[in-house]
Amino acid sequence: MQSPCKEIQAQLAERVLEITIDRPQRKNALTMAMYAAMADLLENAATDAEVRAVVISGAGGVFTSGNDLTDFLGGSAQGEESPVFRFMQALYQFPKPVIAAVNGPAVGIGTTMLLHCDMAFAGDDALFQMPFVNLGLCPEYASSFLLPRIAGHARASELLLLGKKFDACEAVELGICNAALPAAEVLTRAREVAAELVTRAPEAVRLSKRLLRKGTYERGLECIREEAKHFLERLGSEEFREAATAFMEKRPADFSRFE
Ligand code: COA
Repeated sequence: MQSPCKEIQAQLAERVLEITIDRPQRKNALTMAMYAAMADLLENAATDAEVRAVVISGAGGVFTSGNDLTDFLGGSAQGEESPVFRFMQALYQFPKPVIAAVNGPAVGIGTTMLLHCDMAFAGDDALFQMPFVNLGLCPEYASSFLLPRIAGHARASELLLLGKKFDACEAVELGICNAALPAAEVLTRAREVAAELVTRAPEAVRLSKRLLRKGTYERGLECIREEAKHFLERLGSEEFREAATAFMEKRPADFSRFE
């Protein structure tokens, strides 16, 4: 299986599609081309009988530092036609099991995409964060809907309003990950689980996945759209401009002038 973008690697073996985010010099930050490549791979894999499970990981000891902030500043994110939205939809609707293997930073969508994977394994080097408010943005990818249900309102507020960082053990305790493992074992475990899943009856697996998600499916989709609308507006805000510029200039953001 050929990836349309060199920073997203794809490999199909033994009915498992492995997608590897590979842009280590930018901590695997996701550009529009990378989102588009992942969307294409998932859309094709959804109907390809040769694919029964997907493993998503990052190269170079990093899962992903989330959206490329330079892309955001350049105004390249658009509405529902954007590669970001296409990727979100493709993963959200993906009918077969998706397993995430998380090493190193998993920031922004690096954490929120785990809410849409079926299982996730994290290394003792993993560091999760949803810094949307810290960036003058708002939650995305249905995190404002799913996180309170998974982790409870108080903890979801702590993670989303403060953008608090957390490690693999906390991710397990929160219900976002299945197990915290030594860093070197994470991808191996994800591959083992995927290999086990592909031996199961495929229609039974797909039906069970659909049933597991049925209770939140429609509201989740609505929420992705609603959050995206606000998120796009926030990208045009002075608060975001200050936060992103501060990140590039390697200084803390100063929101004191805003009302
Ligand atoms: N977008 C664009 N560039 C990014 C990036 C991102 N999301 N994340 C990291 N980079 C760049 C850095 O600017 C830096 O570039 P430089 O070498 O030209 O200075 C390079 O990647 C290495 O990052 P650095 O911050 O030095 O690595 P680190 O190991 O100290 O920290 C992170 C790693 C992921 C914790 C940190 O880079 C980070 O917080 N990134 C921003 C995450 C973010 O806010 N994402 C958006 C969520 S909506």
